[in-house]
Amino acid sequence: MASNVYGDASIASALERGNTLPARWYVEPEVFRAEKERIFHRTWQYVGHTGQVSSVGDFFTTLLGDIPVVVVRDTEKAIRAFANVCRHRGSEVVLECAGNRKTLQCHYHGWTYNLDGTLRSAPRENEQREFAKDTLSLAPFAVETWGPLIFVNPSRAAPPLHDVIGELPAIFERAGIDFAQMRMLRRDVYEIAANWKIVVENFNECYHCPIAHPKFSAVIDTNAYRVETDHEYFSTYYGPILGSPDNGVNYATLWPNVLFSLYGNPPNLQAITVVPIDAGHSRQVVDYFFAGDASEAQIRSDVEFSDLVTREDIVLCESVQRGLRSGAIEHGKLMLSRERGIQHFQKLVYRFLGGE
Ligand code: FES
Ligand SMILES: [Fe+2]
Repeated sequence: MASNVYGDASIASALERGNTLPARWYVEPEVFRAEKERIFHRTWQYVGHTGQVSSVGDFFTTLLGDIPVVVVRDTEKAIRAFANVCRHRGSEVVLECAGNRKTLQCHYHGWTYNLDGTLRSAPRENEQREFAKDTLSLAPFAVETWGPLIFVNPSRAAPPLHDVIGELPAIFERAGIDFAQMRMLRRDVYEIAANWKIVVENFNECYHCPIAHPKFSAVIDTNAYRVETDHEYFSTYYGPILGSPDNGVNYATLWPNVLFSLYGNPPNLQAITVVPIDAGHSRQVVDYFFAGDASEAQIRSDVEFSDLVTREDIVLCESVQRGLRSGAIEHGKLMLSRERGIQHFQKLVYRFLGGE
């Protein structure tokens, strides 16, 4: 196994003891660059849902790490994903965030790609002596769906998505989430001045809930909150509703940057992506799914509640970023009885950065 500066064995043993990753891993642009290559360029990431590309020609754009991506429904009705990077001189092909097109025409000089990514035409191509169009397709990425959720992996060696999500579909089912009944009704976007790992880690523990989320803690039993870290690529949490122990909220953190909140009664799913922007900034994208018969009042109260909790979390995450950036501590110390989910996540960060 090739090792590198991030594969230092002393970090592995420190993580085992409940130390957190080195503070500088949350701050230094060099570490961020390594994460883009070793994590975001080679893992499955949630990009959006099938309702966004329901008809032929529907498309949307997004980022995987720093790679611009376009997801499109092609003429064969297949969902495809490509690097949204023109083979002419590297402009993004599509600038819009979503729409419907017959072709993907680059906004710079007009090179025009079919919905399957092949180059259809380029202005003045007849003036070239040789123009091997068939070698100038958009770079294709692996796409797979799980229910309505679309995942993309830029790696040529992408494993099947189901190897990564494992038993998560069964866990969703047990939590009362039936994708066939769910509709995506709302997307909220938050800009956060904190490293993406801080945002994921904050979602991975409820040790902070009694102090930082008074309204949440008046509903969820934060003493009985349980964490499971037995799965390779995700951890799960269960928060029983106070006074109703058989009824609760399930949470799951899927490597590297997808957070789910699941509630079965009535069904409500949030798929939350933490998009890395730079070492000190991330974007949190919250997709809300509700059952088809959800009332306006239920939707409004769920969204208001989770927006409140998210805003409280943003204060925490930005504060951690300032603290880690200051250089005042070399690393943190986990309360493992409550924060094993963070350890599970940090071991994956270490594993992907450090070697394989
Ligand atoms: S960069 Fe796309 S057509 Fe020139
Ligand atoms: Fe929180």
